[in-house]
Parts: sequence; C-alpha cells; structure tokens
Amino acid sequence: MSDFRGQVTLDGPSGTGKSSVARDVARRLDAAYLDTGAMYRAATVAVLDAGVGLDDKVAVARAVADAKIEIGTDAATEVVTVDGVDVAERIRGAEVTRAVSPVSAVPAVRRLLVARQRELVAEADAVVVEGRDIGTVVLPDATLKIYLTAAPEVRARRRAGQLGVTDPGKIAALASDMRRRDEYDSRRADSPLRPAADAVVLDSTDLDREAVVDRVVELARSTVAGRA
Ligand code: DC
Repeated sequence: MSDFRGQVTLDGPSGTGKSSVARDVARRLDAAYLDTGAMYRAATVAVLDAGVGLDDKVAVARAVADAKIEIGTDAATEVVTVDGVDVAERIRGAEVTRAVSPVSAVPAVRRLLVARQRELVAEADAVVVEGRDIGTVVLPDATLKIYLTAAPEVRARRRAGQLGVTDPGKIAALASDMRRRDEYDSRRADSPLRPAADAVVLDSTDLDREAVVDRVVELARSTVAGRA
C-alpha cells in the first residue's frame, strides 16, 4: 500500500517509453492511471467513422462531441470504447496514428477532452496522467510534473521493437513519421508539446525503464513527504 496522494503528470514526445513508465509508476504508487493519448486516439476513431474530412474543424469537433468515449483508469487493464465498441486495439493502428495529430490540434476537441480528463482526475486520490500538455494546461497545479525525453534514434528503435519491426528501411520510416508527428504536436497553436516551467526533465536515452520508474516514484514520494 502506498501513501502517495496527488497527481503525477508525465509529458513528452512519443517513443520515450512514457506509457510503460506511467503504468509502472501508477502500480508502484497504487494510483489510478490516465492515458490521455488514448482519448485523442479514440476521438480520432469517432472522426474517421463519421466520415468527415480532417480539415473540416467544425465537423471534426462535432463528431467528437457526438461520440460516447469511455476510458478506464486502472493501470492493470486497458479499457477504451467509442459508442460502446471496444477500440483498444484499433487506436494503435496505422490509420488512427496517421490522423490523430490533426484531430488533436482542433481547439474544440481539446476543450472537450481536457474537461473530461479533469473530471476523471478529480475522481482519484492518487493518479498518474500521461500526455503532452498535462503539466502545462490540464493540471497546472499537479503534485509532480515529469517531462520525459530521449534521443530521436533511441525513440525510433524502441517504437520499432514494440511493433516487431526489424527492417532498417521501415525503422527509418518510423523515425521520420515520429519526427513529423512531434513537430506537428510541438508547433500547433493550442497546447503545444513543451515542458512546464516547473517540470523535472528526465532524459531516458541512457536509462532503462526500471531506472526511470524508480526515479519518478522516488520524486513523487519525496515531493509528498516535503509537503507534509
Ligand atoms: O501518446 P500518443 O502517441 O498515444 O498520443 C497520440 C496523439 O495525441 C499524439 O500525436 C499527440 C496527441 N496528444 C495530445 O495532443 N495531447 C495529449 N495530452 C495526449 C496526446
């Protein structure tokens, strides 16, 4: 049983091992876990299924508002549904991954999802929330803010490992996809990807997952102890 109470935010680009770190930290702190990227991916499923053009911001926002998106907050099981249909696998596929950046750049979509994220966080005494703008926008008063980075080549290799890709050409394509998405996410006008001024920046280039998890858990416990 952990005595951690509060919110840990984990932001950063893709391929840093953020999701697995966030889940492990949540388990270690006995906390809830919220994957906000999964919410933007589920919203993208709703947009794709509505058949609207990705550049029609009004129609994109309407498709998201009309859909019932549900996301679980248990670190041990992933639950993501859109209108009652399990989309946990589909949200990781290439079709959704290609479309998620433009959908998540629409301010009305962000407003809807950020409101839902804050509701879900308010339901938990202890929670780990991962995303891009959690420390900067969603939870500016979080207990502990982490920004996780890693060298781009390392991030592409890790993502390839997760997907079981070994072909060097395909790894290079993954790396360029990743760079394009990060650039898009960092340059968008609404809630760009960047560390909060009070975030602890952790570079995982030379650290394995366990070392990163240990460091975040230690920081979370010491932050709470320091406030008591
Ligand atoms: O972490 P991920 O790859 O599952 O995120 C999917 C996309 O959603 C990513 O391109 C950026 C976007 N996203 C966002 O804009 N804000 C968040 N809080 C989380 C994800």
